[in-house]
Amino acid sequence: MTADVERALLVWPLVVSLVTIFGTASFVLFSGEEEVFDLRAAAASLLTLWRILAAVIFLVSPLVLLNVTADMAGVSWTNAVGFVPEAVTETHAGRVFEWFLPITLVILLSACISLPESIRTTMLSLLAAVLLLLQALLSHAIDKGTLAVAVYFLHEVAVGLWIGALLALWMVARRGSPPDLWVVHAARRVSKLAFWSVIALVATGMYTAYNGLGFDLYHLLFSAYGRTLIAKVIVFAGVLAIGAYNRYWLAPNVGDPAARDTLLRNVQVESIILLFAVVGLASLLANTPPAHGMSDHVGHAMMAMVTADPSRRRLRKFEP
Ligand code: HEM
Repeated sequence: MTADVERALLVWPLVVSLVTIFGTASFVLFSGEEEVFDLRAAAASLLTLWRILAAVIFLVSPLVLLNVTADMAGVSWTNAVGFVPEAVTETHAGRVFEWFLPITLVILLSACISLPESIRTTMLSLLAAVLLLLQALLSHAIDKGTLAVAVYFLHEVAVGLWIGALLALWMVARRGSPPDLWVVHAARRVSKLAFWSVIALVATGMYTAYNGLGFDLYHLLFSAYGRTLIAKVIVFAGVLAIGAYNRYWLAPNVGDPAARDTLLRNVQVESIILLFAVVGLASLLANTPPAHGMSDHVGHAMMAMVTADPSRRRLRKFEP
């Protein structure tokens, strides 16, 4: 297994947990004014999911830092433990993790300690958004400057709002036994949110893809980065077809119990494919060196910084 695939497999559950907590908590906040089924009831049916995802974020994040440090020093995970303090103080990735790790503890506490549901939901949404921003600062976009990082962050926010709306509708409807009126209202809200999230996703995705590939068909068709992106967009197109059927056939008839049932089933399938396949391919993309020679985001970019500055040459010294 290559280092890129290894890191993608490690980062995938972290990104899935971040976009899901951000998206479902934000959707519950958006639906908070619903008289028929209030925020507290909606949040209660998502609490177990939030606690599991918060634990995943808290446990996986230090492993990602260890993986990055091992990659920079060119040593095994066990041998990398001793370099973590140096990596944290002397590299860009390390400085980002200096903020990232404490926030993962606050997210875990916000999900687990007893809090008014409106406070908990707001904290989870905001803290997950901050971690998504830090994730964007760890991405390839960092090589392309502030605008690229901002667009990358917007891409992740659009992912979270789309997946979060689908998952919150399905989980609250299935686990929270809300009145049918809530499902009807929520289904219409999800349809609107999904429409605008997809527009934002395609626009921000195209810009970020241009940063990684340039306008180069050869890079798109024959580089690992280009082929991973093509696979991701193909799966995304498949999910869009399900989404279009939901939006134009089922959502207008959501008052009818049979249409509502089919809609909820389709929403379940959509969110599972998005989380497992599309976000999985996105994590592989984010950990594959872009085609136009831009160095691998965490490893080589740091290496460039390390080799450029003699006082930091220590890290390379440890290469076996
Ligand atoms: C036309 C559609 C899309 C295009 C062109 C696109 C393109 C991209 C590109 C180029 C990246 C940056 C990878 C890097 O770091 O170099 C990215 C990241 C990402 N994309 Fe997309 N994307 C699209 C749709 C989607 C969809 C539908 C989802 C999920 C629902 C998604 C989820 C993500 C995530 C989570 C990341 C960040 C991965 C990470 O940082 O680990 N994208 N996308």
